[in-house]
Amino acid sequence: NTAQTIYDLIGEEQIRLLTKHFYQEVSKNEALKKLYPEDLEPAEERLFLFLMQVFGGPDTYSEQRGHPRLRMRHAKWKIDAAMRDHWMNAMLVALDQIQVDQNVREAMMTYFVKAANHMINHD
Ligand code: HEM
Repeated sequence: NTAQTIYDLIGEEQIRLLTKHFYQEVSKNEALKKLYPEDLEPAEERLFLFLMQVFGGPDTYSEQRGHPRLRMRHAKWKIDAAMRDHWMNAMLVALDQIQVDQNVREAMMTYFVKAANHMINHD
């Protein structure tokens, strides 16, 4: 299989920047801030490693954290449609701040919309 992954196309540095911008948005959003830990740096590293893995890069996330099981890991927070929108908006702002081709951006957006919907666990 020679198909290029998102990781091949954009590289580690853009994924690093994406997570950095995302957590900048989290730190400005009162609703999200209530859920996230005070120190966002370790959280930023976890999301960075996860996204690198999910977009086709090294499996460092699973080496450190095990199977992602993201829906289960999110069960302790009340995530309704409004919270999903806060998260998605933060990610969309972050995506606008990195250098990626439009078709890659759209593939990433499609993935994030689906994953964020999947994380909803409350009416
Ligand atoms: C962790 C909230 C969606 C990936 C977390 C944490 C919170 C959170 C509060 C804890 C931060 C930390 O200490 O790591 C939310 C909310 C979402 C959402 C409110 C709204 C839909 C997503 C989506 C993804 C994702 C769509 C993936 C594309 C992760 C990952 C972790 C995490 C990888 C770290 C898991 C671990 O290894 O412990 N999330 N999240 N989240 N989130 Fe989300």
